[in-house]
Parts: sequence; structure tokens; C-alpha cells
Amino acid sequence: MAYEEFAEVYDRLMTEDIDYEKWYKFIKNIYNEYNVRPYNILEMACGTGNLTKYFAKDYYNISCFDISEDMLSIAYKKLRNYKNVCIRHMNMLDFKFNKKFQSIISICDSINYILDIEDLKKVFKNVYNHLEDKGIFVFDINSYYKLSNIIGNNTFIYDEKDVFYTWENEFQDNIANFYLTFFVYRKGMYERFDEFHQERAYRSDEIIDLLKEIGYKNISVYDGLTFNLSSTKSTRINFVASK
Ligand SMILES: C[S@@+](CC[C@H](N)C(=O)[O-])C[C@H]1O[C@@H](n2cnc3c(N)ncnc32)[C@H](O)[C@@H]1O
Repeated sequence: MAYEEFAEVYDRLMTEDIDYEKWYKFIKNIYNEYNVRPYNILEMACGTGNLTKYFAKDYYNISCFDISEDMLSIAYKKLRNYKNVCIRHMNMLDFKFNKKFQSIISICDSINYILDIEDLKKVFKNVYNHLEDKGIFVFDINSYYKLSNIIGNNTFIYDEKDVFYTWENEFQDNIANFYLTFFVYRKGMYERFDEFHQERAYRSDEIIDLLKEIGYKNISVYDGLTFNLSSTKSTRINFVASK
């Protein structure tokens, strides 16, 4: 399963690589560009709440959810003192809130975890139904190029402080299978655990078509955390769409 024991070391490994503050500022720049000032935001697949915390500290009303209880329990420790945060255990496929949001966001390739295009359509529809009129949806994906050519059929080995891990990948039928093996130093010894993750590679055009079919407008597709148009060599692609 994905994001069980990995949750415990997730922040140690991810905060080396991912600049959540930069991501937060990028989303705020998108709001400026699109001339929206959201006061209530929903973050899907929030993981351990690293991005959520930036919004919380800046007094946004932010609701967030994730499918992994292990990830959420870490998010909860980080966010429990913020009265403006609401944390839920839900699935992107069928999440339900009895209110609408001015913005819905999801970062760090969480969308790639939806493996079936019909399911992705359900997610996008559900987001649409939870957006207020003129609300804005911001999300990113690992690009098709990255999943098929870079991560693809490669193996990566990392030796970090107290965590040694291998990441063996295979790419088949648009799905990247990740076999992760961790050795984590605890109480004088290295303990092993394994996880299996899968990400679906989507082409930008497939996503744009789905968004249009559902009724989204003003769709933009950017390269990484920039306002440059994405290219065939983009590794991370950001989408912005409004209701
Ligand atoms: C790469 S992590 C990103 C987490 C977080 N957004 C971040 O930036 O650190 C992917 C997250 O997606 C969550 N996830 C995967 N499928 C999901 C689903 N169907 N519904 C909700 N969360 C999901 C995982 O549990 C995990 O926390």
C-alpha cells in the first residue's frame, strides 16, 4: 500500500526536494493573475499538510483532506492549533463538503494517483460541483515525459541521514509502478519497509479535453512553478481552470 509507513519519513525526504513556500507563493501569484481573492480554499490530497500550513499561517480558511490516515495524522500534529483549518479523511473520487469553495488546489502530482481516466473525470466533476461560480482550480501533474522517460524504467538509490531507500520503477500502458524499499534507522538498527505506488501518465491534451467537457473555462497550462507555457520536455505541469 501507499503512504503508510512512508508517512513517517515523508517530510524528512520531501522537504529536501520540494520548496513548499515557493509553491505557496506561486499559487498566490496565480490568484493575482486571475484576479481572485479566495477566502475559503480546499486542498485535495494534502498529505502531511506542508502546503496547508502556509495558507493556515496566512489566515486563509482552508479545508483539506487525504486518503491516507498515516499522512493525515502527521498533518494533524502540524495543523491542530490553527482554528482556520479543517482536516478530513476523504477520497478525491467522492469527497463531499456541504459548502462551496472559491479555490480548490492539489499539488505534488497527487492527481497522477488517479489511475483511470473515467475516475479522473469524476474527480474533476466533483471539484467543479464544489467550486463557487468563477472559482479557480489549480493542480499539477508529473508529465507524461517525466513518467515515461525519466522515472520510467529506471532505478534510483538515495542515501539520506538515517534513511536509505531504493526506488525501482517500471512503465507500462501509461502506468508508472514504483517499488519503494526503505531502511530507516531507529533505536540502533535499520528497519525495512516496502511500499508500492502507481501513477498514471496523462498527456496535457487529455486533461484539457476533460476540463473543457465538464465546463471549465480559462484553462492555462504552465511549465512547473512558472508562467511559461509547458513544452514536450516539461517535467511538472501546472493547470489552472475556472468555473
Ligand atoms: C505525492 S503525495 C503529495 C502530498 C501533498 N500534496 C504534498 O504536496 O506533500 C500524494 C498524496 O496523494 C494522496 N492520495 C492519493 N490518492 C488519493 C485519493 N484518491 N484521494 C485523496 N488523496 C489521495 C496520498 O495519500 C498522498 O498523500
